[in-house]
Amino acid sequence: MFEIKFGLIISERWGSQVVVRRRFRKAVERKFTWVRIPPPPPQMENQLDIIKLPPSRWAELKELRLTSLQTDPDAWENTYTSASLYSDELWKSRLQTSWDDQGCTNFFAEVNGKIVGTVGAIWSGGKLAHVATIVSVYVLPEYRRQGISEALMSHITNYLQDKKFIKLKLFVVSSQTNAYEFYKKLGFKEVGRLEKELLSEGKYSDEIIMERFLDE
Ligand SMILES: CC(C)(COP(=O)(O)OP(=O)(O)OC[C@H]1O[C@@H](n2cnc3c(N)ncnc32)[C@H](O)[C@@H]1OP(=O)(O)O)[C@@H](O)C(=O)NCCC(=O)NCCS
Repeated sequence: MFEIKFGLIISERWGSQVVVRRRFRKAVERKFTWVRIPPPPPQMENQLDIIKLPPSRWAELKELRLTSLQTDPDAWENTYTSASLYSDELWKSRLQTSWDDQGCTNFFAEVNGKIVGTVGAIWSGGKLAHVATIVSVYVLPEYRRQGISEALMSHITNYLQDKKFIKLKLFVVSSQTNAYEFYKKLGFKEVGRLEKELLSEGKYSDEIIMERFLDE
């Protein structure tokens, strides 16, 4: 790539001082000159992986969950105060249960080795064996609006479809407009509202029920 540049601008683009000085002299002598601008050094790409966390990585689950309860306290039925009292054994056993798909599963978004988001699903059996409830949808604030939740939801949806679930449902607190918009974009439809379902510090919140069919 060739560009026409004058001294100081050249020095910003060329890394080597020697080359910069030579090019700068040349530029001053001729006022303007054609110089070869090398391509910028390769940037480290952010690598996103959607993974299941093995039980040995329970501390990362704990950190993400406790962070979510602090950054978005209104989004959850649980509170930071109660979750911060859980024993390490409890976090470990929760991850073990989801690792084994025992009535629930969780997927995590890992960006360059850091866990930045999650999505989960829970299910039962009998007449509800075809229904999975989506839970724990969360991405760290600094990683939002980059499509990470969409990647997580797409992954878990395929996973649940392979397991023959045909209906997904979820509950979203009415104040969580980001999440509501997100679910709508993915084809979830609002089918009901549980009024005054949550009570926190004297304030009620509604929960919206949404569902999406995978066989349509
Ligand atoms: C909801 C949440 C998970 C979305 O995560 P995200 O990684 O930022 O979402 P994505 O980047 O994949 O966004 C996908 C789409 O969702 C919608 N969306 C996401 N955030 C939005 C916002 N702040 N406002 C409006 N629409 C939004 C948009 O349609 C977006 O597509 P676009 O970026 O092409 O417009 C995230 O905001 C979050 O963790 N919120 C707090 C926790 C929470 O409320 N969880 C839900 C519990 S039920």
